[in-house]
Amino acid sequence: MEKLVINGGKKLHGSINVKGAKNCALKVMAASLLTDGVFNIKNVPEIEDVFRLQEILKDLGCKAKRHKKGEWSFQADNIHKIELDKNLVPKLRSSVLLIGPLLTRFKKVKMPHPGGCAIGKRPIDIFISGFKTLGAKVKCDEQGYIFEAKQLIGAKLAFPKISVTGTETMMMAAVLAKGKTTLINSACEPEIKALADFLNSLGAKISGAGTPTIEINGVEKISGGSFTVIPDRIEAFSFLALAVATNSHLEIKKCNTEHLTIPLLVLKEMGVKMKIGNDNIKITDASCLTAVNVTTHEYPGFPTDCQSPLTVALTRAKGESYVSETIFEDRFLYTDFLRRMGADIQMINQQKISITGPSVLTGKKVESPDLRAGIAMVIAALMANGKTEIDNIYQIDRGYENIDARLRRLGADIKREKYI
Ligand code: EPU
Repeated sequence: MEKLVINGGKKLHGSINVKGAKNCALKVMAASLLTDGVFNIKNVPEIEDVFRLQEILKDLGCKAKRHKKGEWSFQADNIHKIELDKNLVPKLRSSVLLIGPLLTRFKKVKMPHPGGCAIGKRPIDIFISGFKTLGAKVKCDEQGYIFEAKQLIGAKLAFPKISVTGTETMMMAAVLAKGKTTLINSACEPEIKALADFLNSLGAKISGAGTPTIEINGVEKISGGSFTVIPDRIEAFSFLALAVATNSHLEIKKCNTEHLTIPLLVLKEMGVKMKIGNDNIKITDASCLTAVNVTTHEYPGFPTDCQSPLTVALTRAKGESYVSETIFEDRFLYTDFLRRMGADIQMINQQKISITGPSVLTGKKVESPDLRAGIAMVIAALMANGKTEIDNIYQIDRGYENIDARLRRLGADIKREKYI
């Protein structure tokens, strides 16, 4: 077990490169099960979630190789198991992504209950009804789920609620299904379009990805190929929030600013001055911040994953800000820690908080309840006067590569320590 020890209250300097998107890399890795061809994937972030998924893929018989930093290959030409490991699945909620490709190619999948997590209940009803619509039989008992289908059959499938992995899973399932599938009320995240574009380059027939209506014409097989993971828009925003929170003139490089339109609009509304290029953003002035009212929303709205980093930065803003969370039930757990550090945050209800600023934060012992709350704690610690210790940093390592070393290069006083 490790913790981060941070001495805050200093300005940071320089530039930082954004890594490949976790929520793109995981999907493309899962898609490797759709073919016996080789997937060569570049710009894969070196994060715990990627390591967990490759363990699960290997356990099924997929050949997963890390050739050098950020470069992996996957080949599912010898899958000998269609049962996801009951010890591995609880470590990675995204294991549900494997059901679609496994079911469509191998006709049967067994999966233990994936469980909830710190950010909310996270049911899988959308997946179950989606597979049933494509003709699968789904059984559930105490051990978990069994999905079976001799052949998935294309159909019109309307999602009752917008779901990112739901959309990706059904899109992958439909690639080898018989006939045409139409997905209605799909999620529009850029990672979904990136996955669809890649699958099309391998022979799939998907149109409309990135819009609410996606059409997939089933094909008999797809080939292997090469893919470069798109930049992580959530990591990019986390570093922007860090720059704003610490009033530092950082440059965020290797991002895709087109994917950050609404988050950048929110920063502008807060009074942050920036130079925005196609793949880089420089914060030029964040000295005077004003309060804003922000509600999380599916893409292209303000992402739920950016909510906690933004809240930390808002503790510096003058006046009363409001942040509403509409995607997950329990995404304000970290605000308890921020309050302990001196933030003036009130829970208006379970889904809405107010932040009155500016307040001065002081270092404390805190935890990282989930991945994005964890990076919010790092940002708060770097803003705060004095020493902060952050526990449970596996959560941060799940999605941010080598965060301590990368932030040290910006002048941060941050180190990783083992518990004695
Ligand atoms: N939902 C259901 N039933 C389902 C599936 C989802 O009710 O069967 C609900 C969820 O409980 C939630 C809403 O639908 O209230 C939206 O959830 P969604 O399915 O879109 O979330 P997800 O696909 O599981 C992905 C990201 C999350 C990100 C959300 C929302 C991946 C691997 N994860 O999760 O990323 O917050 O979309 O954008 O892509 C993170 O990176 O830290 C993270 C949590």
